[in-house]
Amino acid sequence: MDKKIILSGIKPTGIPTLGNYIGALRNWRLMQEDDKYCYYMVADLHALTVRNDPAELRQQTRSMAALLIACGIDPNRSPLFIQSHVHQHAELSWILGCVTYMGELNRMTQFKDKSAKHADNINAGLYTYPVLMASDILIYGADLVPVGDDQKQHVELARNIAIRFNNAFGETFVVPEPVMPKFGARIMGLQDPEHKMSKTDTNPNGYISMLDEPAVITKKFKKAITDCEPTIAYAEGRYGCNNLLTIYCACTGKTMDEAVKEFEGFGYGKLKTAVADAVIAELEPIQAVYRQYMDDSEELDRIIARGAQQASERAQITLDKAYKAVGIR
Ligand code: TYM
Repeated sequence: MDKKIILSGIKPTGIPTLGNYIGALRNWRLMQEDDKYCYYMVADLHALTVRNDPAELRQQTRSMAALLIACGIDPNRSPLFIQSHVHQHAELSWILGCVTYMGELNRMTQFKDKSAKHADNINAGLYTYPVLMASDILIYGADLVPVGDDQKQHVELARNIAIRFNNAFGETFVVPEPVMPKFGARIMGLQDPEHKMSKTDTNPNGYISMLDEPAVITKKFKKAITDCEPTIAYAEGRYGCNNLLTIYCACTGKTMDEAVKEFEGFGYGKLKTAVADAVIAELEPIQAVYRQYMDDSEELDRIIARGAQQASERAQITLDKAYKAVGIR
């Protein structure tokens, strides 16, 4: 039986949030099944699209790798690597850039959002970012790409690039599909529930960091913005309430109907405490394993070196195929 290939990545820009966890990382762990083979990476090249501090990037890249293991990525089963350690990604990215239209890149909503946010640094890397991401995916022949809602458009672009390339140069790439969680493909900010929770939010009360202490998690949920409705319900326009219920379902495995029933007749105080407790129960064990790996730096180095080697062997096969297809070798 041919195993399905999975690939996903996360940028090492700050400590990941509960949004990253529910939207992506938890699914990464769950996808490590017998009929699948998963590649997971820390996308340090993508982190360069926003002006960065070199020492901080180095530290955050390691820290992210340790956190991925703590989230349940088993490096003995799924190669775990740093994007820049596999040079083939950047090489394939050039070839793919030559079959990507500017019109397509102009439509990327994340480019528009980030350009507005960093108006003083709208660099070419930010613009061609989705091409490198397509390269990350296509170079492993990934069938499935577990991501949150905000990355779906980029995976769809990778599909279009693969189809166009195959039509022009012959079957070379697998056409990938995005996979999103049932609950929480878009976890919203706690202070601004109409916008997604982000690890680069300037207000720390707006997000739960995966390394927040339990008391901090409780405090942040207590301060979460909700509304003045007397009942707890999942309903149109009730952004804050919907977000809390979604987080609750994602962390407890309950259905939305079960969750709403549980809080019937209660107010936000009870919901906020229950959500905070469910999140703490999910994150506390991860934090403990994270600290172990951060304390054992040699073991972490071994894991990411082995991951890079495994990934690189696979990546080279596709790169050779793509070069040959376009007539370079
Ligand atoms: P990044 O680092 O912004 O986010 C990592 C993953 O977390 C998801 N996510 C969320 N999900 C739910 N709610 C939220 N509030 C939330 N915020 C973030 C993202 O959708 C993502 O799945 N370009 C990618 C990294 C990347 C990649 C790849 C992903 C590079 N190459 C190849 C997949 C395949 C990024 O910046 O993710």
